Amino acid sequence: MASRSNMVAGQVAAGEPIVAGLPMPEFKRISVEPISGACGCEISGVDLREPLDAEMLDEIMKAFEHFLVIVFRDQDLTPEQHKAFSRHFGEITELPQAPIYDGHRDMQEVRREAHEPENVVPSFEHFHTDSPFLLQPPKCIVMRALEVPQWGGDTAFSNAYLVYEHMSDGLKTLLDGLQVVYSGKDIWSKNEKLAPEKRLRLRETHGFTEDQLESIHPAVRVHPVTGRKALFATTAYFKRFVGWSEEESRALLAYLQSLAQHLHYHCRIKWRKDTLIVWDNRFTLHRGVHDFKYERRHLIRTTVVGERPLGPGDAARS
Ligand SMILES: [Fe+2]
Repeated sequence: MASRSNMVAGQVAAGEPIVAGLPMPEFKRISVEPISGACGCEISGVDLREPLDAEMLDEIMKAFEHFLVIVFRDQDLTPEQHKAFSRHFGEITELPQAPIYDGHRDMQEVRREAHEPENVVPSFEHFHTDSPFLLQPPKCIVMRALEVPQWGGDTAFSNAYLVYEHMSDGLKTLLDGLQVVYSGKDIWSKNEKLAPEKRLRLRETHGFTEDQLESIHPAVRVHPVTGRKALFATTAYFKRFVGWSEEESRALLAYLQSLAQHLHYHCRIKWRKDTLIVWDNRFTLHRGVHDFKYERRHLIRTTVVGERPLGPGDAARS
């Protein structure tokens, strides 16, 4: 049997059960239950208020890298405990566009009041990654539910490795050579032009420069350690592919977006109060499902800084 370290998706040993595109890892210190065949797992046996020993932390990171979305239930954390757990994944950062939570500049909130329409939350119409306009877009988001609807309001995820791995070689080759311009420069001016009841809830002031709100990234993102490739082209903040017209870019993007909709790439998480999710914002796409009315949904989060995205031509850099 091939060792796990040299396995690449599509080359796994025949007959071995596969989850999230690779054989199921072993866990000794935590209990891990996959949520779907594509991504996501629920972890139990961990109290995130307590310090985590190195072995347990290693297993949590292994679950994160494998499943891309890890879910913990009943985690009643203070903001400081939330931040402390987040820092195991890397440095946490503020964002220019997302409203901050309760005076914590390094925490954001996603809040829709019971009387508000769904558009106040920038969940976007499609699967997306968060803040791809930054030079170093988020590695992951650590989000906890304070208040959720009785029914609905789930968050859905799509595994961007699997989206890429199921493409034809011809399309992969085309995308491997493409770069995307992402920009967050005009979201405030666009928002101001909307009728008040249609506006997103955005952060009003921030310390980011105009230059920090636009970046060019590869359309195919390469994991800096494993070299595994994933689609990294999504609609939110998308401007165009470098060297392509906007019309051409939108046509290809619409097709790529349709691929990410396939259910066999997905998992979907039902929130409960004190559910905490960490999702990989580099190799998954996500979207909130606003299928509820007249109920409040309030989620708080930290954002962990990622590496500058590597493309297929950059892999040697790591
Ligand atoms: Fe998002």
